[in-house]
Amino acid sequence: MNTYARFPLTLVRGDGARVWDDDGRSYLDFISGIAVNTLGHAHPQMTAALAAQAATMLHCSNLFHIPKQQQLAERLTRLSGLDGVFFCNSGAEANEGAIKLARKYFYDRGLPGRTIITATQSFHGRLLATLSATGQEKVKTGFDPLPAGFAHVPLNDMAALKQAVNSDTAAILLEPLQGEGGVNIADAGYLKELRQLCDARGLLLILDEVQTGIGRCGSMFAFEQAGIAPDILTLAKGLGGGVAIGAMLATEQVAASFGPGAHGSTFGGNPLACTAALTVLDVMESEQLLENVRQRGAQLRRGLQALANRHAVIREVRGLGLLVGAELSIDAAPLIADARAEGLLILMAGPRVLRFLPPLNITADEVDAALAIVDVILRKL
Ligand SMILES: Cc1ncc(COP(=O)(O)O)c(C=O)c1O
Repeated sequence: MNTYARFPLTLVRGDGARVWDDDGRSYLDFISGIAVNTLGHAHPQMTAALAAQAATMLHCSNLFHIPKQQQLAERLTRLSGLDGVFFCNSGAEANEGAIKLARKYFYDRGLPGRTIITATQSFHGRLLATLSATGQEKVKTGFDPLPAGFAHVPLNDMAALKQAVNSDTAAILLEPLQGEGGVNIADAGYLKELRQLCDARGLLLILDEVQTGIGRCGSMFAFEQAGIAPDILTLAKGLGGGVAIGAMLATEQVAASFGPGAHGSTFGGNPLACTAALTVLDVMESEQLLENVRQRGAQLRRGLQALANRHAVIREVRGLGLLVGAELSIDAAPLIADARAEGLLILMAGPRVLRFLPPLNITADEVDAALAIVDVILRKL
């Protein structure tokens, strides 16, 4: 079906942060499959691990114990400080699970039918409940009736949030940094106060780190930078480095509301997907990618800021780690086409924001090369 406004480009191969089209032309990939190709393309360790797992067992039902799933659960719980994991296949599915778990948690306490507050401009997925949770009207049109039980408040507006919380509220669901909504950072102070509010009112804090998690923002999870922890955490995108996998984690007390039969997924956490995610985590550690994200992210933001000083069309540079946005005073789409013509793949985050999402193992030279192309296209304006 014609669900995507595709770029006029066919990509057939990749190596590191470089991809090739069907005419043999190469591009620097600062999209990474929308924050998915954590290790770039065709990382040899990933290729070998997936080939070995494919030769052993691709899929095994969750009716059985799955050692790779167990290992991945142990790694993710250790890294996040949370206690239980449910594996699925995408970001929307992880958030759908989080919404169900939050509702069940209150149902188990004799408080059914409670609502979840999310932010305007948020993006949580395109399944019906995640669409309802999403704070952007444009993606909801035509899909009524959407599941009830969601309210929306502006990000970083504590007064609005406090006003929205009432005796029916179950949880607050937020992205620590809104990716699709425009690279909008939730302030650390806001997140801290939010955590306190949730504790004081007995609410669950659900963080959607589908785009920000797994090192993208310079720490394994973006929430670490605010010095807080969620009750429920969702992951996908970068977790599998290109193989579909999502995860929904929770504290022991919250996770206890999902007993056998409460939720499920045929493909969730199968051996192939878990091998991919374990390899992502292994390589991130052995190649010290968190440090690389911090350094290359600072380099990218510095470079874009320098360009902003010379080209007034860039109004603001913002982001964390390698999730970087440049807000423009003009529409971003033509510049994205110009960048592509010069050999750089970038994308938008809303109509006027250029978004940069290189692989986490991007090199300093590749960041400089991308900045040089951005300079070229801005000079042509
Ligand atoms: C923060 C966030 N949550 C959820 C999703 C939905 O993920 P998926 O497309 O894997 O369902 C996205 C996708 O862009 C996202 O950025």
